[in-house]
Amino acid sequence: MFSKFRSLIFKIDPETAHDLAIKSLKLNLMPNLKDKNKNDLMFKSTLFGKKIDNPVGMAAGFDKNAEVYNSLFKLGFGFVEVGTVTPLEQYGNPKPRVFRLIEDQALINRLGFNNLGAENVNNRIRSNLNKGLLGINIGPNKDSSDRLNDYLIGLRTFHDIADYITINISSPNTENLINFHDETKFEELMNLIQKEKIKLKSKIPIVVKISPDISEDQVGLISKILLDHEVSAIIVSNTTAKNREKLNNILKHQKGGLSGKPLEEESNNLINKFYKILKGKIEIIGVGGVDSGESAHRKFLAGASYVQLYTGMVFQGPNIVRKIKKELKEILIADGVKSFREIIGKKQRN
Ligand SMILES: Cc1cc2nc3c(=O)[nH]c(=O)nc-3n(C[C@H](O)[C@H](O)[C@H](O)COP(=O)(O)O)c2cc1C
Repeated sequence: MFSKFRSLIFKIDPETAHDLAIKSLKLNLMPNLKDKNKNDLMFKSTLFGKKIDNPVGMAAGFDKNAEVYNSLFKLGFGFVEVGTVTPLEQYGNPKPRVFRLIEDQALINRLGFNNLGAENVNNRIRSNLNKGLLGINIGPNKDSSDRLNDYLIGLRTFHDIADYITINISSPNTENLINFHDETKFEELMNLIQKEKIKLKSKIPIVVKISPDISEDQVGLISKILLDHEVSAIIVSNTTAKNREKLNNILKHQKGGLSGKPLEEESNNLINKFYKILKGKIEIIGVGGVDSGESAHRKFLAGASYVQLYTGMVFQGPNIVRKIKKELKEILIADGVKSFREIIGKKQRN
């Protein structure tokens, strides 16, 4: 069904097409297809102690302003992450700022945290409680004079309504944000988050979202800080500011973060690097180029316990979670396993 509309949708500018998708989801205009694998035990899991039907989540950035998370649960997502939300509303970068690279199955975006701000998003969620596991991804305002404090505002605002909070230090579209991957800055941020949680008497699971553009040394340093600060999970990874050489589309040199297929291999390698160090002590949520059962399978083998996707939905449409489950089920049966959990981290990479 989606394939019939795809060529039409792809004639529209990507950001307008996204706004249309959000409107359709709000109006529940999405197909209500039967999901034969909804209750399949093969996919059941828990995330931070809560039951989920399957390990396929919607990545941050799709539902930035918490408008359609309950519709996304209906499409089959096992969990949804809204945001990135900043303390104050902000417009983001000038348009155009999202580019579709069809032959590369990729997007480049430089949105720059366009969102309605913490208070609006908070009110929205409180007036439309989530019917599934909901993560809230937080970040600082572009012009903030105190980015550390912006993360604390996010934590204070959302700690009692989110199922987890993601500290996003990895967008390439907010200048110097990725400097938070440096050892001292990252440690300072994690110290403050931990202290604030104690002050709030909160048990909210903290998740950190990482850039794929980090060095081998940083993997070790970041892992140690995550373990020292009782972080619950790490999301690997955000979009990359690199990797343009192998792309085919003429838009390949647009400034911004690259997502989709060309990110997959790099993201899987990084997942495996973290997995070897963290050894299951901190959960890994794998993101980057997931669009099929096979690509989800590769993420589990590399060490992810959960996956998220965004670009796959743009190219494959709203049926994507059902498609992934159907394909993954066939692969798992061929593997001779009863649950996807049995294959986590089973294939080491160099
Ligand atoms: C248009 C667009 C907007 C995004 N916005 C955010 C965001 O606000 N916060 C964030 O943490 N990640 C954001 N991301 C990154 C995705 O969550 C994900 O990490 C990345 O796209 C890789 O996954 P994918 O290949 O499945 O798209 C965005 C991605 C895209 C394509």
